[in-house]
Amino acid sequence: MNADASVVKMPGLIDPHVHLREPGATHKEDWDSGTAAALAGGFTLVLAMPNTQPPVTGAASLEMTLAAARRKARCDYAQYLGAGPENAGEVASLAGGAAGLKMYLDQTYGPLRLDQMADWRAHFAAWPKDRPIVAHAEGRTMAAVILLAALYERPLHLAHVATREEILLIRLAKEKGLRVTCEATPHHLFLCEEDLPARGLSGGRAEVRPRLATAADREALWANLEVIDCFASDHAPHTLAEKDGAQPPPGFPGLETALPLYLSAVAEGRLSLEDVLMRCYTNPRRIFNLPEQPETWLEVDLQAAGEISAGKTYTRCGWTPFEGWQTRGRLQRVVLRGREVYHDETVLAAPGYGKNIREQG
Ligand code: NCD
Ligand code: ZN
Ligand code: ZN
Repeated sequence: MNADASVVKMPGLIDPHVHLREPGATHKEDWDSGTAAALAGGFTLVLAMPNTQPPVTGAASLEMTLAAARRKARCDYAQYLGAGPENAGEVASLAGGAAGLKMYLDQTYGPLRLDQMADWRAHFAAWPKDRPIVAHAEGRTMAAVILLAALYERPLHLAHVATREEILLIRLAKEKGLRVTCEATPHHLFLCEEDLPARGLSGGRAEVRPRLATAADREALWANLEVIDCFASDHAPHTLAEKDGAQPPPGFPGLETALPLYLSAVAEGRLSLEDVLMRCYTNPRRIFNLPEQPETWLEVDLQAAGEISAGKTYTRCGWTPFEGWQTRGRLQRVVLRGREVYHDETVLAAPGYGKNIREQG
């Protein structure tokens, strides 16, 4: 076989769920390191979550994080607004400039959490119908929020589906014609709780929300692959000192390991390249109403063998739950809006090259 026969061109990938930690926790990540990690992972467009410090819940905090993004982002981006108990009107007025609205309905990292169903309703009533809403809702909470979205006759995207009961619930909702979409993360697709000891992930290092589930849950995600609209890294960097501390924050980094894991599944015949493109490009573009990035593509060697190692990553958190994982398929080059931004394992885009795709005008 010709040496280059395994090299293919793909569109720049989209990650609709990343945590970039600026403002407030730039020792874990910032707009610079996080978007460098995105490019090194083949993602040319990322949607950043609002659970920063302070959280992005209004005009002032949105401007604060976007000011940092304008100076520092190396890939394209948009920023989510966070739903709080008092801000339904304010965030709705800012919808056009945001990736979407994020509703945290179960306990996870950061102060954003909506406990009162009255607050859920206020946001469903106020947020523009044609703009995305993403919910962190696990188990029974997921059933509740699907019902409420249906009653308000609006689309809803469910973050990081992790269990058999969740994916079957979403399947049923779709079969009934409800406008729900969902994403799954690489860690819920490729890991389960039984893998934790062998991966050296104990104590705080194992903590992630939703928790890693059983092998049967993981297999149910694969068995219902057609129900999973998007793959999303839920890149949630925390340092090992924090993970090993007394109050370990939940979350795994994921931007730089996602594509090698998907490509390895392609090499093994568990996914097709088309499956990956649907979930990392076509569907996120449609669900989140994202513009085309002109002259933007990846060059990927489908056969190249590799090994995941945190030593080679751009993320500031310095570790990965996939350390030592053998992979097949390697990103060689990324071109974003006509410029080479990644080549030979090196990010070439300067801070500030990234554009806010929701910026008007
Ligand atoms: C996320 C984080 O650290 O911000 N943590 C996680 O375990 N997934 C929050 C979230 O996505 O729920
Ligand atoms: Zn979450
Ligand atoms: Zn998240």
